[in-house]
Amino acid sequence: MDEISREPERSPEDQIIASFLKKRSPTYRSLREISTIVWSDSRATAYFARERGSADNPGDEGRRKHYNLMRGIGDEMQRETGVLKLERPRPEVLDLCMAPGGYTASIRKYSRQANVSAITLPEDQGGLKILVPHGNGTQVEVLEADITMFAAEFGVVEIPDNHPEASKFSNEKPFQKKLFDLVFCDGHVARTWNRPSNCPPTELSRLECSQLIFAMQRIREGGTLIILLHGADVYHSVKLLEIFGHFSHIQVFKPVRGHTRKSSFYLVAKEMQPGRLAARAAVTQWKQNWKHATFLAPAEDELDAHNETEALLKQVERKEDSSKLVENFGARLIHLGEPIWEIQEKALKALMERLEQGSAKPGMEKSAETSEECTTADPAVLTELARDTDDSSYASWTKKQGRGTESDQDSVGQTSTAATEIAAAAVRDSEEDLDEAGDPDDVDTAPVLE
Ligand SMILES: C[S@@+](CC[C@H](N)C(=O)[O-])C[C@H]1O[C@@H](n2cnc3c(N)ncnc32)[C@H](O)[C@@H]1O
Repeated sequence: MDEISREPERSPEDQIIASFLKKRSPTYRSLREISTIVWSDSRATAYFARERGSADNPGDEGRRKHYNLMRGIGDEMQRETGVLKLERPRPEVLDLCMAPGGYTASIRKYSRQANVSAITLPEDQGGLKILVPHGNGTQVEVLEADITMFAAEFGVVEIPDNHPEASKFSNEKPFQKKLFDLVFCDGHVARTWNRPSNCPPTELSRLECSQLIFAMQRIREGGTLIILLHGADVYHSVKLLEIFGHFSHIQVFKPVRGHTRKSSFYLVAKEMQPGRLAARAAVTQWKQNWKHATFLAPAEDELDAHNETEALLKQVERKEDSSKLVENFGARLIHLGEPIWEIQEKALKALMERLEQGSAKPGMEKSAETSEECTTADPAVLTELARDTDDSSYASWTKKQGRGTESDQDSVGQTSTAATEIAAAAVRDSEEDLDEAGDPDDVDTAPVLE
């Protein structure tokens, strides 16, 4: 078994959450069963490896498809959560890690009055290309910068001279004077992006903390935060859900348009109260985490006994906290997590079925056509196509979720219905999943099953 096909080991704190969920949620159990099957299937491994290859080298067409996918997910997000239609006159939106700009395009579609301010990694530093119209006359202002380097924003003004990237930190605090109604935190460390000084896990933590601090220091009272998370069954994500529950109304969203086989989902934190003590304490903690991940991460060979003891104590602390978390938040977690796990489980089952039939092949051609079709095709035609796919399990699940009934008229006059979405998803399941377009910026496109 090679490196990629090995099922990742769970940390002790993650194991506590997983065993709690296994005992109480049949949906979660089913997901774990199919995940184990996928992880141990060499065809699936080969499939994911090919998929990663396409995602890492997307080309112009691939980039356009990813952009369209994100716009499609924006439509779905609006339908499921209603957060993109902003009621206040001249609302302000902050899109962190914005490129290619699908969500910014969605905001411009549902809230024409909105001004969007965005930060995104420059292309020459490994960032994605911006495809959404921006600049003069567009109401979209983009700052191309590495969001993790705004040291003063994170409470650090003295940069150690010996840091390998000392000259790259900035004391600016962009968009500091605005208050935002809606903030997206959709950053993802590119698999292909290597910093000189940091290993990927540290980079993930730096990126997440940077976005959260930026967002919390700019969100309006009553505003909404949308945060990309991975694994609704891992301590880190569950802890964030619980923390946000103290100062916002939390909801989760997982699209059915794409990224279905991954564990990723969005935390949608509505009615934010950034002034609450719990919110301010969280920001202080994230600042500490940023500082730690940026300046204190020891190289492995420098690990001394002191660091080792500290690491062990932290582990014990996290284990205890994990037990408390499932005790106090477990029932809520199951309620929030089950729709996410069910989408992922169905997608993995569909993939395995296609591998059995020999019809699953990663490729960007088909998925892109589907992506375009999804946003434009006649709902009746799509529904008909979905019927042809005979994906009755998926259809009945979506019916159960109440996703197949509502219809609404979007701001540009297209009729978009939840039924269309579901039908489109079923079409994809029968041919090529949009996941196969991959995320060019995705550190772990697949297999991200756990
Ligand atoms: C999943 S994509 C975002 C997609 C976007 N929400 C959309 O709707 O099109 C992740 C983005 O994070 C950006 N990113 C990654 N690391 C970053 C960093 N350190 N600073 C700023 N942006 C970063 C990537 O370049 C990419 O544009």
